[in-house]
Parts: sequence; C-alpha cells; structure tokens
Amino acid sequence: MADHYAPSRKDGRPEFIPAIRWEEPPEGPVVVLLDQTRLPAEEVEWVCTDAPALVQAIQTLAVRGAPLLGIAGAYGVALAAARGFDVEEAAQSLATARPTAVNLARGVARARDAHRAAVRSGAGEKEAAAAALAEARALHQEDAEAGRQMARHGLTLLDELLSGGTHRILTHCNTGALVSGGEGTAFAVALEAHRGGKLRRLWVDETRPLLQGARLTAYEAARNDMPYTLLTDNAAGSLFAAGEVDAVLIGADRIAADGAVANKVGSYPLAVLARYHHVPFIVVAPLSTVDEDTPDGDAIEVEQRAGHEVTEFAAAQLPTAGAEVGGGIPVAPLGTQAYNPAFDVTPPELVTAIVTEQGVVSPVTADALAELVARGSGG
Ligand code: MRU
Repeated sequence: MADHYAPSRKDGRPEFIPAIRWEEPPEGPVVVLLDQTRLPAEEVEWVCTDAPALVQAIQTLAVRGAPLLGIAGAYGVALAAARGFDVEEAAQSLATARPTAVNLARGVARARDAHRAAVRSGAGEKEAAAAALAEARALHQEDAEAGRQMARHGLTLLDELLSGGTHRILTHCNTGALVSGGEGTAFAVALEAHRGGKLRRLWVDETRPLLQGARLTAYEAARNDMPYTLLTDNAAGSLFAAGEVDAVLIGADRIAADGAVANKVGSYPLAVLARYHHVPFIVVAPLSTVDEDTPDGDAIEVEQRAGHEVTEFAAAQLPTAGAEVGGGIPVAPLGTQAYNPAFDVTPPELVTAIVTEQGVVSPVTADALAELVARGSGG
C-alpha cells in the first residue's frame, strides 16, 4: 500500500482545498484526499495510490460523508483500473468498507459497471480504465450540481415554513463541501441562507464521539464567515426549550423506501425534540442516498464502531481502524464497554420534509418518495 502524507501548501488563510481530487503525476495516477481526521488543526493531503489505501482512508474517516464516500468509491475503482490492479476485487473491498451510506456501494458500482461494459465491448485495459474514470468524474460533477439544486429547494422550503425573516438553524455532523463534489447538502442550504442575508445563526452540534460538528462544520462555517455557535450534543434540549431553534437541517446516509432516515447518531433525538417543540425537522440529501431496495428503517445496517472512540479522548479524536485501544487519553475505567453506533434511524413520521435535487417530499410517504426517485431517473 503506497500511500503517503504530503503537507499541503499553506500561507495565511488557506485557499480552498477540495475534499477529493484525481491527479496524474509522472509516477502514475493518484486519488488525493484532504485528510479530515487532521482538521481543523492541519490541512494535510493523503495521497492514495491503490484501493487498499482508500479503504483505510474510508474506515478511519479521513474521507467521509455519504456523497463523498460515493465519489471516493468510484475514483477508487478507477484507480485500481488505471494501475492495473484487479478491478473486481478492489470494487468489492471499497463497496464494503463502511455499511450504512448507500452512496458508497452505488458509487463503486457505477465505476465498476462502466469498466465491465468497456471490457465486454472489447476495449483494452487503458480504454476500460478511462471509462471507469469518466464515470467517477461524472458522479463528482453530478454531485456538485445536486448540491446547488438542494440549496435552492431547501432555502425556498425554509422561507415557506418559517414565513420569511432570518433563520436560526440547528445542524448535526458535517454536511458541507467536505462531504461532496460541491457545497454539500444540509450545510449548503444554510450557506445559501447566509449568502441571501437570511441566516441569523447556525447552531452546530459538536457530534460526539468523533466531533464532525466541532472539527469540520465549525471549520466550514468559519471559512464562510457564517454566524455560528457550537454546542455539546446534550445542550440541544435546552436550546429548543429556550425557543432558539427555527429549524433542524441534517443530511442522510441512507433513506429507506418508507422515508426512514439513517444519519449520524444523535439525529433521532433531535427529531424527537423538534417534534415536541413544533420545529421543522428537515433532511437534505441527494437522490443517490434514497435506497428503494431498503424497505424501512429496520432494514438499514447501522455501523458499530470501536469502543475506544467513546472511552478515550484522542488528541484530535482520530479514529484508528479496527483497534481495540486507540492510544488516546482514557476517560473511563480500563476495560469499560462502550455502545458506539455511528448512526441512528429517524422514522418518517418525525421528518417534516426531505429535500433532494429533484424537489421536496413533504409529508414524507413511500409513494411521494418513489415518485421523486422515478422522476430523478427520468421515469
Ligand atoms: O461517519 P460520517 O462522518 O461519515 O457520518 C456522516 C454523516 O452522518 C452525514 O450527516 C451524512 O453522511 C450526510 S453528508 C451529506
């Protein structure tokens, strides 16, 4: 596995570093990731030269978030093809690197199928690799465009639901440029509101245990000069009680056919709070996150992660793939068992609306969702 770290160029306020990019230096093609485990302290790039390196980056959350996982998976297949590795084997390991975000397996399948089709039609190795890369690039572009459309639809919905004015939005985990080919999902809506002078405050849940909110969403909000405030996850209840939240905006890792939403653990409690306090709970996700093959929330596989993410504080909460002990500072007695699901599932009846690039589903029903999916696929 020939991956290595290379410091990115920095001077003062850093230029925008994309979450992922494909490069072709003389030594051969690479997938370059902005290593999200090192943010916000350091902007460091992780150069992957093969699929196992990408699998490791996915499992340690150096690259993460549903849409970006799909893009990374597709580039991973293209990388294997371009470097002459076994494409089917690479596709299999990439697709199963994490179980919950359906975008990952879908992104992998798109590039793999493009490669297979080229091989079947008699293309040589080079042309087949080019076909896989073209598919990965197409997915990357489509995701950027989907983000623009979701931002537009999402802000229109907010203005309707909240009757204009400025909005105080609570968000969870990280759903911005770091998870997409463009500006993201839920975060992109908040950013659109900010650009239109309509964002009064972005409340950012820190998102235990890996702190995607504190480390990543706050980083993105600061870079975009948004008015934001960080809170611990368990402070959300008192924020609602104080009447400080106009809407909750989150992303999704998988949306089942009935509209159940799997997203970062801690999303479901926000949905319950939102219902109690009569606040809209809005999910923003591309259609590539809707999985018609998963009938309902019970059928969604929720990733369970290592206990040390909960029982230890690492310097920057860096996860270590598969380790029992992570080398951080223990905050619980040695040997403490931890319950550490990476995601939870919110039932459709608690979701006010699902915003996609094709439009909005509200109320959330299986039929309405199926209709949108069909429209999105040209049906
Ligand atoms: O474990 P992560 O950091 O990959 O979890 C990410 C999330 O839960 C995001 O909210 C989700 O992928 C939506 S990103 C648009």
